[in-house]
Order: sequence, then C-alpha cells, then structure tokens
Amino acid sequence: MNDINDWAMISIVPVPGYDRPMTRPDLRDFPPLDSTAAEPFYRQIYDRVRAAIAAEALKPGDRIPSARALATELGLARGTVETAYSLLAAEGYILPRGQAGTVVAPGIKPHAPLAAPPPRPIGDPTSYRPDSILPFQMGLPALDVFPRKLWARLGARCVRAMQPIDMVHPPVHGSWALRSEIAAYLQVSRGIRCGPSQIFVTSGYRASLELISHALLTSGDRVWVEDPGFPPTRELLGHLGISAEPVAVDDEGMMVETAIARASHARAAVVTPAHQSPLSMSLSLSRRMALLDWATRTESWIIEDDYDGEYRYVSRPLPALKSLDRDGRVLYAGTFSKVLFPSLRLAYLVVPEALVERFEKIVTAFAGGSPALTQAIVTAFMQEGHFARHIQRMRRLYSERKRATVAGVEAVLGEHVRIDAQPGGMHLVLRLRASISDRELVTRMREAGLYAEALSDWTMGARDAAGLLLNFTNVTSREVAEKLAVQIRELL
Ligand SMILES: Cc1ncc(COP(=O)(O)O)c(C=O)c1O
Repeated sequence: MNDINDWAMISIVPVPGYDRPMTRPDLRDFPPLDSTAAEPFYRQIYDRVRAAIAAEALKPGDRIPSARALATELGLARGTVETAYSLLAAEGYILPRGQAGTVVAPGIKPHAPLAAPPPRPIGDPTSYRPDSILPFQMGLPALDVFPRKLWARLGARCVRAMQPIDMVHPPVHGSWALRSEIAAYLQVSRGIRCGPSQIFVTSGYRASLELISHALLTSGDRVWVEDPGFPPTRELLGHLGISAEPVAVDDEGMMVETAIARASHARAAVVTPAHQSPLSMSLSLSRRMALLDWATRTESWIIEDDYDGEYRYVSRPLPALKSLDRDGRVLYAGTFSKVLFPSLRLAYLVVPEALVERFEKIVTAFAGGSPALTQAIVTAFMQEGHFARHIQRMRRLYSERKRATVAGVEAVLGEHVRIDAQPGGMHLVLRLRASISDRELVTRMREAGLYAEALSDWTMGARDAAGLLLNFTNVTSREVAEKLAVQIRELL
C-alpha cells in the first residue's frame, strides 16, 4: 500500500474556462490520513478536502483528482473515496461534471463555516452514528420509500392547527390521543389488551427501560439479559448499578430453564421474543410459558422489547408475549423507530394496570414529555390508516429486499460466509468461515464507507459468536447487494 500521506502531494489542475493560474498547492499543512484514528478513511478524506477549501488551498473551480486516481494514489478501495466525494457533493462542496471531471463547486464560499464535527462512538458498539447513511446501516427502516410527501402534508396541517394550548408543556405520559391510537393498534396487531392509561409515551427504548428501572428495580438487583443481546440494555442497567446476567440463547430463544436452574435470583428478565436481537429466532411458546410462570412465582418482572415484531416474513407476525400475561408481570416496550423512522424519538411502554399509579409518579419525576407536534403528526398518521398500510407495504418490501440481499451476498461471498436462516427482522447474520476477526472486518468496512456490526460486540460470554450484522432494508436490489458484497470480499 502506498503511503497514504502522499495525498499531501496531490496536484490540483485548474479547469479550462476558470480563469485561474496553474496551481500546485502543497497540502502538507493539513493533517495526514491516520490509519489508527477512530474516523474512517472516507471521513478523513472528506475532512481534508473541506479543510483545503476553507484554507483556500482548493479554490472554486479547481479540479480534484478522480475517485479512481485518488484511490490508487492512496492505496484505498475506490468505494472509500467515492463515499467521501458523494458526501462532499451532497453538501455542495464539490461538483461532479461527468467526463469533465470533478471540481470544487464554483459558488462555494471559502470561509463558509465548517459543519459540526462527526459524533464519535462512545460506549456500546451500537452507539456508532455515521453522519451519512451507509450501506447496511443497522437500525434503519427503508428510508427511500417512506411517504415523505404525505408526512409533510400531515405535518403542515398539524402546524396550522396549533393553538396556544398546544404550546404549553405537553403531558408527561404522552398525548391522550396518541396513547389511544397506540392501545388500539396493539390490540389489533400484537394481541395486547390494554387501555390508553397503561401507555406511557417515551423518547425511545432506553427511556422506557430507564423508567422501568426507576420504578421497579434498585441498584444491586440482577436482571437476566439474552446473550448475545442488544448492548444498550446491559450498558444502561450497568450505569444504574444493576447487574445484567447473561443467559445463553438457542434456537428457541433465551434458555429460561438454564437461568432458573442457576438459582440466580433475578428481579427481572429482558427478552426480545418476536425476533431475538440479534439472532432473530422467536421465543418458543414453552419458553414463553416458563418465563411467565417464573415471573409469577418469584414476583419478578419480564421486560418485552418488541422492537420489530411486525416484520416477520414466514407467517403472520406472532402475538406479543404480553398477550399471554394473565398476572400483570410483563412490561411491554414498543418503538416507532423501525416502523416509522428513528429520528422521531418516539416509543412507548405498556405497564400492567396495577403499576399505572407508580409509573405516573416516576414519569412525573423523570420525564419531561415528548414533543407535542411530533406526537400530533404520528397520531394523524395512525388515525387515517396510513400507519397500518405503511407497515403492510414495508413487510412485503423487506421480504423482497431480504431475499435479494441474501441472493447477492451468497453469490459473491458464499465461500466465505454462511447466512443464518431467519424468520423475520431487518438485518442478516453472516457467520464468517474465514479466520478473520469480525471486529477487524467491521473496522475495515467502516474505513471503506460500509456499515456492519460485529456479533462479538453483542456478546458477553456466549461462544461461537463471530459474525457480521448487516441491515438489508436499504439494499434496493440483488445487483446492489452483489456490488457491496464485492467490496466486502476485497476487504477479507
Ligand atoms: C433490540 C432493540 N431494541 C430496541 C430498539 C429501539 O430503540 P429506540 O426506540 O431507542 O430507537 C432497537 C433499535 O435499534 C433495537 O435494535
């Protein structure tokens, strides 16, 4: 590989028609690309071009090297440079002109304020938030097909309808209208019987889990969590001094009997019964009954994280575990992040009737309520039937995109990976046949502008847990999947 700092020597050739003298700016004053930095290479290239524009080393109209030439120069994959260039183009810094090459945007003001620095990953591996949408990015629904026009129309209507009363602090439990819509939806779609007063609107799953912890748990308590499992759950519990006890999963989900036999007196269990996160198997009926029985006998709590239960492709969605809860032991956490989009920051918690009063006190102490306008738009979206239609459309689309992604990835990477069979969910689990560490591969992928998470990072003690987690909801065709898989193969 060439010395990536050779980028410092890249010459800038003026474009005919722009009346500027031939310049060969020396970019050595700019920070070199750093292979040990947390920031991926595409991001570093992006930062350097922007810094060069701000310092007027690159002026409006200057031609910049083609992605192919720069990639060769730096010894990087071409896709890495293309990712940086597409980000720069999207933000108006550069102008791709086809055969005529790419130039610094003629109208750009050199001293335009630089955008905020990209957020750095902190804590759990799922907290990595790239500042552009990357292929395979986890946690995202299909953003290309979200009905944004309809959303804009409903949004405009809600803004116009705003009265002074809508400008005061919103109710801390969530708006009554939205809670009523959620209760009706849960009854029909997830088999949960509950009234609006049992529903608490929150800003996301973590906020729901935090409320539960404040209301029902204390520091020093033990809570069973699935292993592998969603890292934020154990992170959050850990911050509250609550011990997350890993319980292995098999093809029926959390191994409840093993946890009971270990005689660890847990106060609660957090489970993802619809599609185990991240392996996607469903919690079997016998395990569901065993868990409910344990919770009743020991007066413990079950926290059901139903983050994507709607997206099942082999049959109709399974009813929620909460629908079997006769003794009021299950707290059900739902979210709008997967069925609408995550920047909404709207989720909800269903609590047993007997706990409503306690939770009302807790939300009053800890929660400030969710934005009234956002709640109003989601309410309208649900009331007019768009929500149910959207979920149905997405279920069909994800089933197709899953099939296309599996076919494309298997065609290119078949000899290197094995893809788990999964009944539902929004991501694939790729087991690596090669003896490369999944974390290492994820690092390389992020440097190349691709997203993945390492199964090892979701694992506490479970063995045999190396793999890649790849979201397929934004992979639009088999051809796209194949192209991306070729990029992965080059990194293996
Ligand atoms: C396992 C799991 N639970 C819950 C959530 C929802 O999180 P939030 O509501 O904070 O967006 C996600 C989203 O990625 C998830 O993967």
